[in-house]
Amino acid sequence: MSNVRPTPPDDPIAFDAAAVLATGGMSQADLDGLTGPLEQARAESLADLDRWRSGEAGPEPLDPAFIDLPERLLADYGTNRPESELFAILQTAKRLREAVDRVVVLGIGGSYMGTRALFESCCHPFHNELSRGERGGRPRLSFEGFNIDNDSAQGLLDVLAPAERADADDLLTQWALLVVSKSGGTLETAVATRLFLRELADAVGHDPARLAERLVPITGASGKLASLAQTLGCPDVFGIPDGVGGRFSVFTAVGLLPASIVGIDVVRLLEGAAAMTRRFREAPAAENPVLQYVAVSHLAETQMDATIRVLSSWSNRLESVGFWYDQLLSESLGKDEKGATPLTAVTTRDLHSRGQQHQDGRRDKLITNLCVGEPRRDPLALPPLTGSDGNEDQLDDLIGTTWPAMLAAAADGTNEAYASVKRPTAMIQLPRIDEHTVGQLLQMLMLATVVEGRLVGTNPYGQPGVEAYKKLMMKRLRP
Ligand code: PA5
Repeated sequence: MSNVRPTPPDDPIAFDAAAVLATGGMSQADLDGLTGPLEQARAESLADLDRWRSGEAGPEPLDPAFIDLPERLLADYGTNRPESELFAILQTAKRLREAVDRVVVLGIGGSYMGTRALFESCCHPFHNELSRGERGGRPRLSFEGFNIDNDSAQGLLDVLAPAERADADDLLTQWALLVVSKSGGTLETAVATRLFLRELADAVGHDPARLAERLVPITGASGKLASLAQTLGCPDVFGIPDGVGGRFSVFTAVGLLPASIVGIDVVRLLEGAAAMTRRFREAPAAENPVLQYVAVSHLAETQMDATIRVLSSWSNRLESVGFWYDQLLSESLGKDEKGATPLTAVTTRDLHSRGQQHQDGRRDKLITNLCVGEPRRDPLALPPLTGSDGNEDQLDDLIGTTWPAMLAAAADGTNEAYASVKRPTAMIQLPRIDEHTVGQLLQMLMLATVVEGRLVGTNPYGQPGVEAYKKLMMKRLRP
């Protein structure tokens, strides 16, 4: 048997606007006409990085350090391995993998949505339901601190400390806490931290050293969470670098640590992301997936009144990528009474809920299909009917038809139906769902968001609007 591992594929994801052009709502000339402004917006987005690095930022929020973060992390890992951030992340992941069977991530918004997107796209769809052996010894992953929902918090506490506690030293009952908050003061995450910290202390018999080992804070350099980590003496604390905002932090320890704990190949993720940044920098506008995606979305909004952007995933596993993108676009560009409204859909599921509206409703939507070339697992095929040879369900003619073939028919049929009534549909094509393509996709969408911001004159960084609810909530809690 050969011990040479096959090189995993690293083919690029693609963006295709043909079906939008076919509606007549925008033309190739319109797209070409945007080349200058797009190149300018790209240059400005890259110049943001230089401005931020040289400390010339000024009072406006500026968080562009995500742009070259994947390549910096990889280069550092390649040259300074034992001292690198990525090495430290992998070491902590290994320590926790070996010590516990569940990791609870506390965080909200940008401090958990990217992790969830990585988990649901790259892990087994039923990871948490598998036995430890079937999970390859990788812990389960649960999320809290993203809401103030009494019953779901109680539900997770039930799972962590069942009424009939088994052997306290049994690995399968051990768990750890990752608390993620860049500011270190977000109320939802902070109150959950108190709750779960108390539970964790009970679980480790109130041993301070074990408690400190089981809590891994991921936070800004200073703040309430950083102080707590210091007081508790947590041996592993990860920073969220300056210049990387919450919703752009998926390729910091925020996403990489939990991803690595559950067995996601974070090096491949970063390689995918770095490849996308390279294409963004180097490819001419007409072949640049980031710039083309921005151009089509922008023209659909300005020329076709498509103020709603439906990201329509043709895989269940990309739904959380859609939710992550909803947050990214809303918080980045939903400012000064501007900004398109993002909406996540999963097809064919949502054709039975939203399909009517997409086909027949108000003409205010651009649908971007997120299509996947090949499944990760062997294709399922329709079997003969069990328990009857009467063909009661009238499906015998489809025996042997595979799930991918049926999904392709659904996608082609849906697109033909939309095209017949001139509904604009674009496509992002992923060759498959794996770390490399997910890395590319997330980086593409982050880059597109900041480029569009620069194109339309909206600062994509910061989220001043979110402060209003926080202030009024705190006024009620502390009158
Ligand atoms: O994108 C952002 O910056 C926000 O969505 C934050 O991630 C979110 O508000 C959580 O903030 P923090 O990490 O400070 O707790």
